[in-house]
Parts: sequence; structure tokens; C-alpha cells
Amino acid sequence: MSRRNKLYEGKAKVLFEGPEAGTIIQYFKDDATAFNAKKKGTLSGKGVINNIISEHIFTALGDIGIPTHFIERISMREQLIKAVEIIPVEVIIRNVAAGSICKRLGIKEGTPLPNPLVEYCYKSDELDDPIIAEEHILTFGWADELELEELTFYALRINDFLSGMFAAIGIKLVDFKLEFGRHYEEDQCTVILADEISPDGCRLWDMKTGEKLDKDRFRRDLGGEMEAYQEVARRLGILPSADVTEIADHLKKEG
Ligand code: TMP
Ligand code: ASP
Repeated sequence: MSRRNKLYEGKAKVLFEGPEAGTIIQYFKDDATAFNAKKKGTLSGKGVINNIISEHIFTALGDIGIPTHFIERISMREQLIKAVEIIPVEVIIRNVAAGSICKRLGIKEGTPLPNPLVEYCYKSDELDDPIIAEEHILTFGWADELELEELTFYALRINDFLSGMFAAIGIKLVDFKLEFGRHYEEDQCTVILADEISPDGCRLWDMKTGEKLDKDRFRRDLGGEMEAYQEVARRLGILPSADVTEIADHLKKEG
């Protein structure tokens, strides 16, 4: 990967110049961070699992008509994506109260919400991704009215689809975070889904046992992170036993 021209390194991924103009290679690292990188660690194999989980979800979303940056997975840790200008707004959808909303509003973890709650955060590491209102987005021009309407519509549609997809495999989609980007093609600019969707940016609870199958295992020092991520992939049907061997071999080779 070092031969490629690095464009950007984030907490969990690296972006490299793609083979053609308008394309980027998204590389999934094993680095895990929480609380805006105040807590750091490495989860061996996480990048490989998140790459295939995100590929699976983005492909399924593409199939139902959500425009996304995903083009194809090109290796165990890399996918080819469309270049976008990231909109600096993280969209969080909550179905059940957990995480920051419990702290902020004193709500008991696990309280079901009567309808999906949409929250927006300003994407800024320096400021710790503060929660913002729609009015902030419009006032500071982070997105215009049409973009905001569109990304909110997509986010709710994605929530409906993913809630059903996870419920079918015994997993409750508690909450998740999305990022969108502007894609320029000829003289057209469209809003498309970007980044990744994986257990790093979702809360996923086993419906029967309540067991956490997501990054809260790392945030809260519960252990068993990789077993949980692999369980999600296995239930999604994208980790048949042959692949487990392939992934294990690949990780051994990577050292
Ligand atoms: P929160 O409860 O910490 O606000 O997080 C809500 C959801 O959004 C949770 O599934 C984790 C995800 N998330 C990210 O992926 N990245 C972030 O920077 C934040 C703040 C949340
Ligand atoms: N993604 C953020 C971080 O790495 C927040 C989190 O997921 O807890 O710090």
C-alpha cells in the first residue's frame, strides 16, 4: 500500500489516490479509537471484517436505490470508492437510547424511542464532534437546505432498511452514524452516502441476550471485540467457514 499516494489518514481508515480520476482507494486499518481518540487500541483483523461488512451493506443499500460512494472491494482491506467532498456533518440515527444521549439527557440505556431520532454532529476532531441543530448546518453553510433534506431522507430510509436486515438475523440496530459527500460528475453535484457502515459506527445488540456486538465492547473494556464483529459478519452470511480460513491466512501473512 505504501506505493500509493496517500491522500488522508483518519482514525480507522486511510485514503489513497485511485487508479482513475475521481476514484479513491479506502484502506481499512485495525486501529480502534473511542472518545475522540482519547482511548486507542488495535483490534487484529478488524479492518478486514469491517471492509467486508461495509461492502455488504453498501451493496445492499445500492440495490434499494441509495446512491453510495462504493464501487467495489479490491482486496481484503481495500475498496475502490468514488471521490467525494465530505459534508462535515455526522448524521446519527437512534432507535433505542444508548451512549451519549443517555448521559446528555439522563435517559436509561435501552429505552426504546417512539420513533427514530435524527441527530447531527459537526465533524470536527478539535471540537469533539459537537451536537448541532439543523439551523447551525444552514447558518454556517455546512450543507444547504436541499442537501440537508436529502441526507436526512436517505438516513431514515437506510435506518428502515438496516433495522429490518439486522432484525432478520436476531440483531437490534440501536443507533448508528452516517457520513455523506458531494459527488461531482460533469456539471452535476449529488449527495451520496460515504465513509463506512460497520460495528465501529453502529450499536448492535443481540435481540435475545442483549449482548453488545459493536465497538462498545472496546469503549467499555468488555473484551471479545473481534468475536463480536465476526459474529455480525457470520450472521450476515458473509463469513462462511472458507473465508475464515482465508482471513486467518491473510492476517498471518500480514504479520
Ligand atoms: P454516541 O452515543 O456516542 O453519540 O454515538 C451514537 C452512534 O454513532 C454510535 O453507534 C457510535 C456512532 N458514532 C461514531 O461512529 N463516531 C462518532 O464519532 C460518534 C460520536 C458516534
Ligand atoms: N469514532 C470516535 C473516536 O474514535 C468516537 C467513538 O466511536 O467513540 O474517537
